Amino acid sequence: MSFLSATLSRVKPSPTVAVTTLAQELKAQGRDIIGLGAGEPDFDTPDNIKDAAIAAIRAGRTKYTAPDGMPELKAAICAKFARENGLSYMPAQVSVATGGKQILFNALMATLNPGDEVIIPAPYWVSYPDMVLLGGGTPVPVECGIEAGFKMTPEQLEAAITPKTKWLIFNSPSNPTGAGYSRDELKGLTDVLLRHPHVWVMTDDMYEHLVFDDFKFCTPAQVEPALYDRTLTCNGVSKAYAMTGWRIGYAAGPEDLIAAMRKIQSQSTTNPSSISQWAAVEALNGTQDFLPRFRAMFQRRRDLVVKMLNEAPGITCPTPDGAFYVYPSIAGCIGKTSPEGTLLDTDQAFATALLEETGVAVVFGAAFGLSPNFRVSYATSEDVLTEACNRIRRFCENLT
Ligand SMILES: Cc1ncc(COP(=O)(O)O)c(C=O)c1O
Repeated sequence: MSFLSATLSRVKPSPTVAVTTLAQELKAQGRDIIGLGAGEPDFDTPDNIKDAAIAAIRAGRTKYTAPDGMPELKAAICAKFARENGLSYMPAQVSVATGGKQILFNALMATLNPGDEVIIPAPYWVSYPDMVLLGGGTPVPVECGIEAGFKMTPEQLEAAITPKTKWLIFNSPSNPTGAGYSRDELKGLTDVLLRHPHVWVMTDDMYEHLVFDDFKFCTPAQVEPALYDRTLTCNGVSKAYAMTGWRIGYAAGPEDLIAAMRKIQSQSTTNPSSISQWAAVEALNGTQDFLPRFRAMFQRRRDLVVKMLNEAPGITCPTPDGAFYVYPSIAGCIGKTSPEGTLLDTDQAFATALLEETGVAVVFGAAFGLSPNFRVSYATSEDVLTEACNRIRRFCENLT
């Protein structure tokens, strides 16, 4: 019998990390590689946030804090939810963790029993199903195709719910598609949930601030206040404030659930870094002036990438509402052969050949539960994106 736990055998390593690592290895060998795999902004953390962290270090705020967040940060989070989402939470309803990832992980560990089902609209962020599996639950992916704008319909949600359903994981704007649900679309889903009082919603609002055109972000407990007592509203500073390395995520929800999550955290990481927590206080309470600038820059890149990818034969690239990803279909390339002779029978074969033959690293769609597609993270300069899209177009033009 293996020394390793049986649970671990049910889980796969993160494919996005694998693509990034492979691209770095090829680069180290001297290859001309453009990495479009990593899901993080290329901007630097704003100076006021860095200064707050430096001040915290100088003031000796370098000790353990309360396990799920210090009072100053919980107060800033309560103020954020009231100001931006019209949601009223007390500090005892708030949990802070080492990244949005640990928040979701704690919540699933705290609630799942064997056999519990978790509905996950696909394509999904790669970690959701594996976290559910680690918690002993059963992921129930629901395919939401390109023709539906990668969004789940109320009918699909209704059909996926069983007596064993514990959670719906909801993510808008989405990683990997950038698709965002309008208030009416979300209301359609919350109406279904009202009919099934045993189902809770874990909403991952990580890309709330990265929305384009006139898209208006909304979150389930705001759209349907009757779901407040069974909604965990998750968010974090990683993406909007260019703080991926600081590792601060947070959530608000029913006090009993928050207490259960605190118990898990107190026996694992104890507390998120005190210095990062002070930085997050500044991120939430300080100026938000740079957000429109970040949004405008991402929107320009989105428009460039969507236009250029749609010029590539065999690729169809919808225009997303938010985040910094596009998720084009490559249905028109499947079954063809690459310039160097690889049969492109899957999106994984396409992504591998694209990397080997052109040096452009993207993540294949199967990793996100919907094929044949790939994900581009456009959190890089317009020059780099132009070169990458030109290489992708040439690759597609030369398929036979
Ligand atoms: C949808 C979504 N949720 C959560 C996370 C995790 O964020 P963090 O870096 O704060 O753990 C990510 C990061 O890629 C994400 O895309």
